[in-house]
Amino acid sequence: MWLKLVIGGVAGASLVGAALVLMFGLLGRPWDGRNLAERLGMPRPAIIAHRGASYLAPEETRPAFLLARELGASYLEFDIQRTQDGVLVALHDDDLSRTTNIAEIFPGRERDTVDTFTYAELQRLDAGTWFNLRHPARARSAFRDLKILRIEQILEIAESGSPRPGLYIETKAAHRYAGIERELVQLLTDRGWIQRGGAAMGARLVFQSFEPDSLARLKDLAPDVPRLLLVDEVMASEASWDGLVAQAAALGQGIGTWGARWALGPHWSKKLGGARYVATWPWYTGRAHRAGLIVHCWTVDDRWEMWMVAAGGADGIFTNRPEVARAAYGGDAPDLPRLWQRIGYP
Ligand code: G3P
Ligand code: CA
Repeated sequence: MWLKLVIGGVAGASLVGAALVLMFGLLGRPWDGRNLAERLGMPRPAIIAHRGASYLAPEETRPAFLLARELGASYLEFDIQRTQDGVLVALHDDDLSRTTNIAEIFPGRERDTVDTFTYAELQRLDAGTWFNLRHPARARSAFRDLKILRIEQILEIAESGSPRPGLYIETKAAHRYAGIERELVQLLTDRGWIQRGGAAMGARLVFQSFEPDSLARLKDLAPDVPRLLLVDEVMASEASWDGLVAQAAALGQGIGTWGARWALGPHWSKKLGGARYVATWPWYTGRAHRAGLIVHCWTVDDRWEMWMVAAGGADGIFTNRPEVARAAYGGDAPDLPRLWQRIGYP
């Protein structure tokens, strides 16, 4: 009798043990991401306003960042490039054809890259009207003739917020801009976002790039600022998940993967080819966590996907829709008309 009980107990305990090993091995341990974020001083889930609140306002413009700030986004996300005369500006695309009226102002230069324009030339462009034309249901007359922002203007928006959002800065097409990392670090140091001597303000500042070399330079210049390697379909088709995780771990503290929707969609599935995987499945997230990396997914705009990536263990999302994310992650629904009024874009 006793022997049977002992054998039964040992067998039961072994089964439970095996199940736990299997579960945590496959799915990752839910507390890992929480511990990593806490150690970095990073909000979790981090709501990273992708190009500002860019579903409701023209991307990387003043109202997009102001609205994101007022919505309580953890971070304002933007892409930096440099003008011909050395000004750092926020712009995503290589050229100005999608998000400005360049064809009207500088005919023939529609496909010229940003670095071939001076800052004064960029200031002649209207970076808001395209949005009204493309999204009439979200159009606002106040978006007409918005300007491309220099980085200092975004810092001012963040600095005057209460609470103050963090900055999540991408060195975009960094191979085209020799020395841009040094200029960025200098600017952020002068403005107090990086403390002289190297220490950052907790994780209120994060660097990100698709270019490992750029992250390596940032690591040298500002070792205490967290860095996240972004991963795209080309990188994913050339390397295994574990290979990407190892690369990200050598360069920084995070990995930026696509969200579930993109990986499940036919476009991406095709592009990912042999390396097709949904990086936000918990067993992938778990492996990143075990390598000491936080996981932030881009670009997650639907509530179902916000829940899905969170359930998979992701530590935050890049989103064009911080207003949706705030509600999805347990906040209240924002009073948008009041916020528009408050930031001066009624
Ligand atoms: O920067 C975060 C991620 O969304 C990268 O994509 O092309 O929007 O800068 P992109
Ligand atoms: Ca970006």
